[in-house]
Amino acid sequence: MKLSLKDISLKTRMKMHQIAERTLKENELISYILNKTPLPNQLTFLTYPTEELLYGGMAGGGKSEALLLAALQYVEEKFIPEGENRLTYDALILRRSLDDLEMPNAILDRAKQWLLPLEDTGLVYYKDLKKKFTFSSGATLTFRYLAHNNDLMKYQGAELQYIGFDELTQFPENQYQYLHSRLRKTEDNPIPLRMRAGTNPGGRGNDWVKKKFITGNVPFVPASYLENKYLDQEDYTRQLEKLDPLTKQQLMYGSWDAYAGNWLLITVDDFENSLRVLPDDKLLFSVVGVDSASTGQDKFACTLISLYQTGLMWLSDMVATRKMNQEEILFTFLEQHHDKNIKLIAFEREPGSDSTFAKKYWQGLLPKYNVVDFSPQGSKFVRARPVGQSIREKRLFINKDIKESLINELRNQFGYIHPLKEKMKEYPSPDLLDSTDYAHMGVMKILENKTRVTIL
Ligand SMILES: Nc1ncnc2c1ncn2[C@@H]1O[C@H](COP(=O)(O)OP(=O)(O)O)[C@@H](O)[C@H]1O
Ligand SMILES: [Mg+2]
Repeated sequence: MKLSLKDISLKTRMKMHQIAERTLKENELISYILNKTPLPNQLTFLTYPTEELLYGGMAGGGKSEALLLAALQYVEEKFIPEGENRLTYDALILRRSLDDLEMPNAILDRAKQWLLPLEDTGLVYYKDLKKKFTFSSGATLTFRYLAHNNDLMKYQGAELQYIGFDELTQFPENQYQYLHSRLRKTEDNPIPLRMRAGTNPGGRGNDWVKKKFITGNVPFVPASYLENKYLDQEDYTRQLEKLDPLTKQQLMYGSWDAYAGNWLLITVDDFENSLRVLPDDKLLFSVVGVDSASTGQDKFACTLISLYQTGLMWLSDMVATRKMNQEEILFTFLEQHHDKNIKLIAFEREPGSDSTFAKKYWQGLLPKYNVVDFSPQGSKFVRARPVGQSIREKRLFINKDIKESLINELRNQFGYIHPLKEKMKEYPSPDLLDSTDYAHMGVMKILENKTRVTIL
């Protein structure tokens, strides 16, 4: 559940303000010694008073920095309860593997950069063997990795007040859940229990993290490199531009729906090989396939497939949008392609008694065009087979100059399309693939001469 400031109650906001004052602004270590000022998103993350909270979405949003600051919010002596001489605050920060943990400028390295210079002051000391910082208050901050489930045994008797997962999607859900059960404190300990995580989409944990935080009820604070004033934006953007399409979707656009998938219909190579510039050949005719959006989750998608004199088909353009004005989007799309000899506009016939309504409706709006409606046969996978076959057999190519985000969307849908209905429920509706199917069916239908449309 995306946390947006406007949805936070006044009471909670006042509490967040208090936490900000006490644990950040009046925090000697963070504000004066380390001289840290959190970014606005980080401030929300550091003060929102729930037990579980996720930070991230895109790369470079300051996730590692936020997790480290969060760990340091309660290490100061001023939090020692009256009548006691030691603070009970033990914090743990996890990475998935030893390599991840030891990477230069990753979270442990950053902690060392911040804290090792302070050893002389007596404020903190570090034990390298245990990767553990101990503060003069008695608070501790330990860094570990969790490569195997066996590693969980080490935490059997542990009682922790803060657990931070850096790059949460690298972890399986059971490790997060188990560690969560180690979050404990005695009743009189005033320090809040906090389970905090930072992550980009992608990785083995993409789906469970998405389900728990993004579409689920546990809050997350979205963050982006574009909102990080400490980064050289232009340089960072240039670096992200170099990534492969899938990773780029995840890191640059923060997409939780960019899966590698199973590629059961065509291979990734089939797809990549189909991307070409439009040919100079003579265009015979085109068909527009349309996938209407029935729910708010679906997208309205259109695909234009053209047949050339060489006998080859080209997916020359497409559009997919969640906007409501479907008619306008289709009109604009048709207008843009008025020179493509559009012979047919192919819709999906919706199930139900009124199944001809859509066809009549659209035909009424598009008197200059031939409108057909195909009734969907079989699963989406079965329906996509002919398109898959045309791509594999190099009879259908995709215009590589179509907007990259749309090509990525179609690539993902080819990647995750699956014959099992159950499996498809985990993914967004493959709207672009659907509209492509209808366009392709339209071309086939014309070629088989089953319509009254004359080609030339
Ligand atoms: N509050 C902050 N103050 C100073 N520098 C910051 C802050 N937040 C992030 N940065 C800097 O921005 C860069 C990216 O932050 P990092 O935490 O590594 O992002 P992520 O883990 O999301 O990739 C780092 O160089 C980091 O030092
Ligand atoms: Mg990081």
